[in-house]
Amino acid sequence: GQLNALAKAKGLKYFGSATDNSELSDTTYVSILSNISQFGQITLGNTQKWVYTEPTQNTFSWTQGDVITSFAEGNGQLLRCHNLVWYNELPSWITSGTWTNATLIAAMKNHIANEVTHYKGQCYAWDVVNEAFNDDGTYRVDVFYTTIGPEYIPIAFETAALYDDTVKFYYNDYNIEYAGAKATAAQNLVSSLKARGIRIDGVGLQGHFIVGETPSLASQISNLESFTALGVEVAYTELDIRFSSLPPTTAGLTQQGTDYVNTVMACVETKNCVGVTVWDFTDKYSWIPSTFSGQGDACLWYSDFTLHPAYYSVVTALGGT
Ligand code: G3I
Repeated sequence: GQLNALAKAKGLKYFGSATDNSELSDTTYVSILSNISQFGQITLGNTQKWVYTEPTQNTFSWTQGDVITSFAEGNGQLLRCHNLVWYNELPSWITSGTWTNATLIAAMKNHIANEVTHYKGQCYAWDVVNEAFNDDGTYRVDVFYTTIGPEYIPIAFETAALYDDTVKFYYNDYNIEYAGAKATAAQNLVSSLKARGIRIDGVGLQGHFIVGETPSLASQISNLESFTALGVEVAYTELDIRFSSLPPTTAGLTQQGTDYVNTVMACVETKNCVGVTVWDFTDKYSWIPSTFSGQGDACLWYSDFTLHPAYYSVVTALGGT
């Protein structure tokens, strides 16, 4: 049995992976990613971000994103589309521009309108707003917050909803996989949008974890339920579980398996948790080593495409052999 087939048999809609354009010239990589029984869903790791899609104001560039959406479509895979509004990977015309409340709202609305329209009918879900909160639950101070205030978030969701009736609109963040100020802030956002009649369909919990520091199965389930109780679906959207020092020990590799299983099974055991996406499936293309020096081996496949013990742990937990 393989990940997506087993996850679907347990009631999830998909088990998926992020990918990026440069990786699609790696034939060994592609042979694994394109296998629907392994991965039923793909997330664009980069090329739907603002800097790629609107590098110059009101000049849109879909070429790179379309390569990945076509790849997924050709394989019969669902797409998580990522993302519309984020403080990072913004074009310099946004970050260095001179904005008023009105002009930045107009630019943001235009970006959302064009991108949602271009990808209409192709995405299962859109991450409308990504990483808007600090770990203490306060708003992240970025160009949108500074210029527009917290209202930029409801405006973003309200705008997206004008252009696609069927895609699921998500808020996506990290460090909301366990109870705390940041998870509470995300829940308050969901409640306030719903109270105002603004559509939000889901919350993505990224799941960038550290081996041995991953929340327990029970605490992850209760955290997921505190979101679904508000009337949204949830998903783990960027799962990886890194070693904070390398190389891993044998005991560490076993622990990594336990940690992956706790997260995958928390989703399986939570009604309205729809799927799990890994933030790429192989250490060869993981973002971790370039961001956290000396850390890594966070994925289910090693760089040489052999499998981590954690892969087998997940397969076993999902009832496979
Ligand atoms: O493609 C260019 C290449 O041409 C150039 O030579 C090279 C030198 O800088 O950069 C390459 O682009 C990089 C791109 O990844 C593709 O590898 C960017 O610099 C780099 O900033 C970018 O990093 C991405 C990061 O988001 C920032 O957008 C990571 O791949 C991606 O995994 C990471 O993903 C984020 C999620 O979107 C949100 N949650 C956290 C997650 C991890 O940071």
